[in-house]
Amino acid sequence: MFVEFEMERLQSLYENEVKYNLSDSGNHPLSMNDLMSAEEIKEILNMEIYYGYTTGDPKLLSAIASWYPGEINADNVLVTNGSAEANFLIGWTLVEPGDEVVMVLPNYMQVPGLAKNLGASVKTIRLKESLGWHLDLDELASVVNKKTKLLSICNPSNPTGAVMTDEEMKSIAAIADKHGAYIHSDEVYRGSELDGNETKSFVHFYDRSLISCGLSKSFAHPGLRIGWLVASPKVIQSVWTRKDYTTLCASVISQEIGTKIMTLPTRKKILGRSSKMLRENLVLFQDWVNSHGELFTFVPPRAGGMAFVGYNMNINSTELVHKLRVEQSVLIVPGDCYGMDGYLRFGIGANQDYLAEGLDRVSACIKSLGY
Ligand SMILES: Cc1ncc(COP(=O)(O)O)c(C=O)c1O
Repeated sequence: MFVEFEMERLQSLYENEVKYNLSDSGNHPLSMNDLMSAEEIKEILNMEIYYGYTTGDPKLLSAIASWYPGEINADNVLVTNGSAEANFLIGWTLVEPGDEVVMVLPNYMQVPGLAKNLGASVKTIRLKESLGWHLDLDELASVVNKKTKLLSICNPSNPTGAVMTDEEMKSIAAIADKHGAYIHSDEVYRGSELDGNETKSFVHFYDRSLISCGLSKSFAHPGLRIGWLVASPKVIQSVWTRKDYTTLCASVISQEIGTKIMTLPTRKKILGRSSKMLRENLVLFQDWVNSHGELFTFVPPRAGGMAFVGYNMNINSTELVHKLRVEQSVLIVPGDCYGMDGYLRFGIGANQDYLAEGLDRVSACIKSLGY
């Protein structure tokens, strides 16, 4: 049976219908006027809208590669339509019916659903709230074995905002290496660490890693639909043969804007803005959590525009989310989308006034439930 992508469907149905969309996990988007000079905008207006390179504009490939210092160059990068396409192509390239894959949960949930739809046998391992949403590495070592084709992680983590240490990444790479498994690391929240210390990419720890990333979250430009894949040139070539069957190329206009975003000093400026916004918004969010006494359990995120909280209320998470949506016109993500009823994911990357008003409305809903 086809596995639907519950969270994306929930967002597609309602995110543009509510007054306060707190289901988004990125930073409040920037406009072209925020990003570019009048001269640069004029250049874009004069562009002829050809097809682009199917692998990505060479200028953009180099700008992306420069964010992965060391051995990585343009041959290691493939530009996609959002990191969602990168994730899809990774699954489609690597996973064949009957393959065993290991998924670290919770995560964005695209790859687990995709792997099942591709006929894989999916084994799961859960991040532990008691470990600050980190992995029990002994447990991981007991789950990965010689049958494991692919281990898929999301770092920084959606929905928890946890960030792996270098040591953890080294240990995970060693576990995968022992059995020759590939590692897929979805790193779309890299660069929006609240303390400004950029998480290292998995590509620096393991040769057989495939990284998906993009401009939608830390870089605050989801509507450009620019994503990418970083891997060995051999894997990139293999993924490219699949990409010929999907979207051919990314929009040339988006790639032009994306090149500006990924080139210094703009890249640093945008990431600095994201980290600062999230730092400030987390203070507001933490105050809001505290104002509800013992109602929530909360491990604050280290990166990404999300806060994942457990709640002590006698109501199913999906039911609560629809009550909120209908009565207060606020959208958040129910833990059910992650197979974790009793939890809620709040987007905290919006402008402060908007976030504050949205949270007030959540409080009103909670009050109406008698808590
Ligand atoms: C972890 C993760 N990966 C990928 C995506 C897809 O994002 P996009 O295709 O906009 O880059 C999302 C979106 O929420 C996400 O949270």
